[in-house]
Amino acid sequence: MPFYDPKQIEILIDQSALEARIETLGAEITADYRGHGDVVLVGVLKGSFVFLADLARAIDLPVGIDFLGLSSYGNSEQTSGVVQVTQDLTQPVAGKHVIVVEDIVDTGLTMKYLLENLGTRHPASVKVCTLLHKPARARVEVPLDYVGFEIPDQFVIGYGLDYMGRLRNLPFIGVNVGEGPPWEA
Ligand code: IMP
Ligand code: MG
Repeated sequence: MPFYDPKQIEILIDQSALEARIETLGAEITADYRGHGDVVLVGVLKGSFVFLADLARAIDLPVGIDFLGLSSYGNSEQTSGVVQVTQDLTQPVAGKHVIVVEDIVDTGLTMKYLLENLGTRHPASVKVCTLLHKPARARVEVPLDYVGFEIPDQFVIGYGLDYMGRLRNLPFIGVNVGEGPPWEA
């Protein structure tokens, strides 16, 4: 028996589909940035940590890696619209090519705030790479340069994305189809 209840979780994107898509994204980023100078991947905590780990290894360039902690959700599945910086970058990004790495762009409010914030730090350029995009829920327009998968308007979990703080360690993207939390209390 795994740590979650497989009957309560429907797999939306399996491990091999994730792997294949991330290889392609890595190759695109490599081609786009080769010979362009300093590139730094900025992962948005906590959700992006799994994606960033795999994406970084699919990029054939000497990239820097940093993290920014943002929180817009609390424990609920509804966005509050209020974005809070919970942890700042450890290095300046002035003069560097920044690639923001996100798990998911939903309403776009988090990314809009983040792009405005990063823009004030004088980077050479800023692009966005998100694993998932839910176009149906967009509330603000944000430029997404690299998108792994467009998904329907469902609350997804796994591969970095949490359900009440848990299940970030599921190796696939899934949907909770049960009533309560899909694990044993
Ligand atoms: P946005 O500001 O509405 O675009 O929300 C962005 C953030 O909300 C993401 O970085 C996630 O942390 C969280 N989020 C949005 N949709 C989901 C979901 O389906 N599952 C888990 N977290 C989500
Ligand atoms: Mg996030």
